[in-house]
Formats: sequence, structure tokens, C-alpha cells
Amino acid sequence: MRTDTGRIVHLADYRPTDFVLERVDLTFELDPTETKVEARLIFHRREGVDAAAPLVLDGDDLTMTSLLFDQIELDPARYTATPESLTIRDLPESTPFEITVVTMINPEANTQLMGLYRSNGIYCTQCEAEGFRRITYFPDRPDVLAVYTINIIADKAANPLLLSNGNFLGGAGFGPDKHFAAWFDPHPKPSYLFALVAGDLGIVEDTFTTMSGREVALKIYVEHGKEPRAAYAMDALKRSMKWDEEVFGREYDLDIFMIVAVSDFNMGAMENKGLNIFNDKYVLADPETATDQDYANIEAIIAHEYFHNWTGNRITCRDWFQLCLKEGLTVYRDHEFSADMRSRSVKRIAEVRYLRSEQFPEDAGPLAHPVRPSKYREINNFYTTTVYEKGSEVTRMIATILGRDDFKKGMDLYFERHDGDAATVEDFVKCFEDASGRDLTQFSLWYHQAGTPQITVSSSYDAGAKTLTLSLEQMIPATPGQSAKEPMHIPLRFTLISENGSEASASAISGGDVTGDVLHLTERAQSFTFSGIGSRPVVSLNRGFSAPVTLHFSQSAEDRGHIARHDSDLFARWQAITDLALPALIDAAKTARDGGTVAADPAFVDVLLAVAADEALEPAFRAQALSLPSEADIARELGGNNDPDAIHAGRQAVLSAIATAGADVFRKLHATHSASGPFSPDAAGAGKRALKNLALSFLSLAENTPALAAEAFAKADNMTDLSQALTILAHRFPDAEETKQALTAFETRFASNALVLDKWFTIQATIPGAASLDRVKVLMTSPHFQPTNPNRVRSLVGTFAFGNATGFNRADGAAYAFFAEQILAIDPRNPQLAARLLTALRSWRLLEAGRADKARAALATIEASATLSTDVRDIVDRILK
Ligand code: PHE
Ligand code: ZN
Repeated sequence: MRTDTGRIVHLADYRPTDFVLERVDLTFELDPTETKVEARLIFHRREGVDAAAPLVLDGDDLTMTSLLFDQIELDPARYTATPESLTIRDLPESTPFEITVVTMINPEANTQLMGLYRSNGIYCTQCEAEGFRRITYFPDRPDVLAVYTINIIADKAANPLLLSNGNFLGGAGFGPDKHFAAWFDPHPKPSYLFALVAGDLGIVEDTFTTMSGREVALKIYVEHGKEPRAAYAMDALKRSMKWDEEVFGREYDLDIFMIVAVSDFNMGAMENKGLNIFNDKYVLADPETATDQDYANIEAIIAHEYFHNWTGNRITCRDWFQLCLKEGLTVYRDHEFSADMRSRSVKRIAEVRYLRSEQFPEDAGPLAHPVRPSKYREINNFYTTTVYEKGSEVTRMIATILGRDDFKKGMDLYFERHDGDAATVEDFVKCFEDASGRDLTQFSLWYHQAGTPQITVSSSYDAGAKTLTLSLEQMIPATPGQSAKEPMHIPLRFTLISENGSEASASAISGGDVTGDVLHLTERAQSFTFSGIGSRPVVSLNRGFSAPVTLHFSQSAEDRGHIARHDSDLFARWQAITDLALPALIDAAKTARDGGTVAADPAFVDVLLAVAADEALEPAFRAQALSLPSEADIARELGGNNDPDAIHAGRQAVLSAIATAGADVFRKLHATHSASGPFSPDAAGAGKRALKNLALSFLSLAENTPALAAEAFAKADNMTDLSQALTILAHRFPDAEETKQALTAFETRFASNALVLDKWFTIQATIPGAASLDRVKVLMTSPHFQPTNPNRVRSLVGTFAFGNATGFNRADGAAYAFFAEQILAIDPRNPQLAARLLTALRSWRLLEAGRADKARAALATIEASATLSTDVRDIVDRILK
């Protein structure tokens, strides 16, 4: 584990390497505990670099056993090797030279899952961001691109499969029990895209013919016996390849594309050139074991990693500050893909829900940072929703500002101009400026200023003058290291809805730039006047969530109801329903805190039930409308002195009122959508199941009985219905006999399927209330719980901390203390996992004083540890600051 050195990396310090890497030849002799890695690296000194400058290579926890210079053992006086670096002096001034380094590594002992490690007997690698330096000494940075040849030698019986990037060159036997394989990747790449896999796996094969007629072999490797569960991933891969050709004109560039599923993985998946490595959770699916959400995630992540081949691999990042260049853009691409595969509006609603629940709190708290940060202490901590999701929103805004055609021209220019480059955000933005002729200087502030812009809006209609005036003011809150902010360019899609529900259009608009349906807010305060408006319209603003901002627009409930009924943009309708719900939920939380009785506003309940029953609306949309803002949404809106118990109680009371008022509607919905025919994982089927299960949840509440969910549990023929029924039982009726039976039945039935048991952990870890802490502790002693597997830890400890506000924030602080112990136990094994979990405490300052004190105390015990990893040290310091 890397312990903290206190070193901070600054964007301003960027400079190219002194030495240019020409070629890389690696030979791996695999062994579970003693793997030998021989790296032959050819370098030459970059022109203009001081002749005395030494070659400094990165390492992390390395042991070197030999070092040759041009094939001859190097005089120890000419180099210094530590576990963290190798420095070689007295090098030729201009001629190329070859360094041959041998390191010994122990894959079995690699619990942090960075570099070369073993997962369920499979050798695999994870090199992004700085894992390659745990394999050999290397200029381990994304702007060092080279062509790699890889030789793998391993025991044949245990490792029939030997894989690496690029094309297979050949293989043969090697001594009595071993064999070897050679791979060559013709595309220059940075070390973070290197991958190696060896072991014994099952395979699913297919082919894809590219737009120019080349046949690509597609291979997905999974544990033996799980091949049928990779069919959906293969289908998603082929659809991704086709879509990227049709929409972005991007063709795949090798003869083979491989995906390997492993069970121990810190993240979702990794885009290694030609050899993507996946967390098995995002590959394996069948109706019996995967929920609709699992299917949607698999489709999105398969696409995401595949799309990286162009946005990330062909064009990579100059340095890690540019991470959003590949991640924000690729998330944008996978969002567009899913929108085309599914329902665009429903997808947009889900994206915005996620952005608000994860990125907005990050942007409002101690971990806030710009989409393109300018310094970091630990790069692993910058794989954030700000870089990914806000980065995607920034790309989406470029598309909104430029319009479809110019955006496409800009993307084409980017691919043409920067293919083979390690590029920067500036390079990217420049392509859109050049393609469109627009100046994006002010817009670029989105990359540099952290914090969610707050926009205050008011509208006034002048009947005599027939004008509508819309006044806007933007404020970007202070964030760590950035107290004063400049006004930004914020593109807001809008429409004016007349009394009869049709769209009104203005004869003229003054006050600023309005192009089509996009209003460009560029000043700190700006008023737009729309002329020729015959009667008072309702303004629907930020349609489609065209900008990732928070609007403070005190529209009346009638106006919001009008939007909810009439807007032609389904996203805006959903937003209006949310805007109606939030004040009701906030009132309910306050009433509950003061010990009062919560009464839900009947007008709001009517709007909601009308949407629920409206057969003209797609079921998935109705399900989104019925899933009220979460407890986290309410907490964020309250913005301080928060009492999670009151928020929960208030929200439950509102849900009960809706359930009672709508019992007939829900009964009918449940009955109609229960008989939905054979299972299909597509969006339409998923939407029906989502609506049916929400109806079941409300109905169970209205009738206050576990019987309905128990019956649904017994009848379920797919994992979505089964896990939803179990969730209703466990969360609403935790002590019922039916619940105990269902939990046991689920555990027994899926005892040999760890991914399904993760759902069993999650459902129990998120049962509301103070008692959940003891439940989590007991579950940690279950034989199904493996503390070294990130998916298990996240399903149990992670969902408890992130998804169980009442349990995690129990008033006596016992869960915080437990959590601190867990972080300290996980950190030495897997710092990345520990640091990510710890971010669950990032909003502790928003809690009421009693809880806040206890949370701070728990954080202080973590901070007091003398042996923290850089990852955890960085997070705890920032959270406490
Ligand atoms: N680059 C991976 C992705 O977005 C994420 C990742 C980062 C995986 C770091 C592993 C380690 O798609
Ligand atoms: Zn990515």
C-alpha cells in the first residue's frame, strides 16, 4: 500500500518526459506467488533535454532482481532502485538504448487489485490509473505511448488461456508442463491500457462485420458454466459496435475484441485495448438472476468500455487532469446509446436523478472539485461523479449550444485531428470552436469552476403590452479552493405553455441570445423579454435538463400542475411533479421533527394519481413519477440541521397518504400489469414491471399486510419481481414471519450465486431504522460474506452507509463508529475501496448537531491512524477540513 507522502501533483507542473519510449517487450512467467516480469524498454533522449538528465522510472512496491543496459549488467553505481522508483544515470546523449529490468511480483498477495493479481484462480491486471508501475519500472503516465509485444509463459493445465492486448501472434509448448503465447498490439498506447489475463475460462463467441466489411472476432470469457449468462452482454456489444458506426462514424480497429469477467474488481470495468476486463456483475445476466436494472447497467457499461476504444484509447489523455476528456465524453456517448436503445425521456430522468443524488452533493460538499481539477494528492480519488457525470453534462451542453450538425462536425474534427494523440480538454473544446465558429471561452468555465450553479428565476406577464419578462440571476457557490466565481454560459431549453396547453411563440425576444428553444444565460443577472404573447403563459425552463443547475423558480402549484399535464417534454413533466412533491416532503419532514401529524396536500396527490392512471403515458415514465424524491433528495433540499429519522418518517407518511388515496388505482395497475406474458429484458417490459412493483408497494402499504408481497414473492418468475417483493417484505414488514421465510428461501435458492446474494445483503442492509446496524454486523459473519471481495463489501457495508440514512445515522453514533472500524480494516487491504466507501460521510456537516459531532468523532479516529493509505488520508483530510 502506498502510504501518504503529502505530495500534491499540480496541472501547472506538467512537462513531457525527458526520454521517449520507443518499444516495449514484456515477458511474464506466471506463478501465483512468484511471477517474473522481464521488461525490455527502448528509449532515446528527447531533443533539447539536458545530456546529464537521468532516466527516472516509476515503481510501486517493486522488487528488482536484475537490470541490464544494452544487454549488459548495469554497474550499480549508475542506478538507484527503490520500491517506488528506478533512476539510471550517465545515459547516451542521443542514441537509443535498451533497458532490461526483471522484477518479481506476488499476484496472490495483491489484495488492492491494482497491477497483476489473482481473482478466483484467474490472473488479471488492472493498470488505470497507476497500476502498471506495480508490475515493472516504467514511465507510467498517459502521455507515454508505445507499441507493446507481450510474451506469457504459464502452467498449461491451470492456464489454458493466455491473453493480452492486440492480435495473437502465436504460441507453443514450453517445457513439460508449460506453454507460452505472444501478443502484439500495433496501436501505440499508454501503460494504463495494458492488460493480461491467464487462467481457465469458458468462452462465448460471435463475430461482427464492420462498416468497411472487416470481420471482427468477439469473445467473452466467463467462469465455466456461466456462458449462457453472457448472451445479453454479447448482444449489447454488437449493438454498441453498430451504433458507434452509425452515430459517430467510428469503426473498430483490431481483428479481435475480448471481454473477460472477473469477480474481484474495484470498479465497473476497464477499457484495456482490445481486452476489456469487467466486474462480473456487469457481464452476467439471465432472467432468473438479473434485475431490469442489471440488464440496463450491463448494456450501458459494455457500451461505455467499447466506446472508449475511440474516446480514451485512440485519443487518450495527456495527463490525469484530463480524465474527463475520456470519461465525461464516453459517459455522454453511452447515455446517448442507451437513450436510443430505450426510452429517451425515461433515460434522461434516470440520469438526472443519479446526477442530483450523487454529483450535486459532491459538488456542494468538502470533496467538490472542477470537472477538470488542477491538483490532486491521489488520482484514484478523482474517478468521481463530477468527472464522469458532470463531465458528460458539459459535453451535452456543447451539443445543445452548437446544435446537432455543428456538434457532429466538431466530433469528426476531434477524431481526425487528434487520432493517436494524448490530448487535453483545450484541444477538445478547440475542435468545437473551429467547427462552429463559436467562441467557447466563457463556456469553458464549466471545466474549471466547481459547484452547482444556482439560478434564481422570476417571470412577469404584462397583459397590456403583451410581453413576458423572464429575469434570471446566477450564483455559483464557493467550493474548496475557489471562493469567487465568474458568471458562466448556461444553455437553458424552454417553452412557453399557453392556457390551453399549446406552445406560445414570441414575435420578438430581447435581452440576450435566444436560439430556437435555447436561452443563453451569460450574465450574472439577465432579463429576457418575449413580445407578442397574447395571454399569460406558463414558463417551462431547463427542459430536458439542458444544464446541470438548480433552479429557484417560485412557480405556483397551478403552474407546475399545468406543466405536469401539458409539456410535450416528458422530462419537464416529471420535473414539475418533482417540484410539486419536494415542498410537500419537506413540510412533512419538518412536521415529523416537531412531532406533528403529517397531512399530504390532496392537490399534489391528485396530480400524481392522475399520472399513475394515465394509460397514454408509458409505464416506465409513470413509475418514475411515482418514485418520489428520495430521502437524500429531501436532505439536500433541507440543506442543514438534518434529522434523517424525521425525513424518513415524513416521507413515509406522505407515501401512506398516497397509498390510501390511490388504493383503487394501485390495485388496478397491479392487476393489469401482472399478467404481462413471457419475460423480456427490454425497456418496455422493464417499464411494466417497474410500475407493477411500485403499485404493489403502495398497495401493501394501503392494506398494511405482507400477504401481497409474500404472494408476489412466491409467484415471481424473474429476479426483478422476486427482489422487489423481497424488498417490500423486508423494508415494510421486517419482523413478519413471511419476511423471515422469504429471506431464508432466497438465501437457500441462490446459495451458490454470489452476485445474487449481493442483493440479499443489500436488501437487508437497507432496512430502515436503528436496528439495522446489528443486522449488518450479523450478516458480516455470514459464510456468504467475503471481506476481500469489493462487490460483497459494497453490497453490505457500502449500501448500509450510502443507502440507509436512518440506520447509518442512528442518533447514538454507533454506526459511525462501526463504519470507522471497517474503513481502518479495509484500508490496508484495499485503499481504493476504503476511500470510496469513506465518501459516504462527505455530507456530515448537514446533520443536526448531535449526529454531526458523532460523525466528526468517527472521522477523527480514522484521521488519527498513523498508517493510512494516501487514498484514505486524502479523503479524510478533505472531509474534515
Ligand atoms: N476507466 C474505467 C472506465 O470508465 C474505470 C476505471 C478506472 C476502472 C480505474 C478501473 C480503474 O470505464
Ligand atoms: Zn470510462
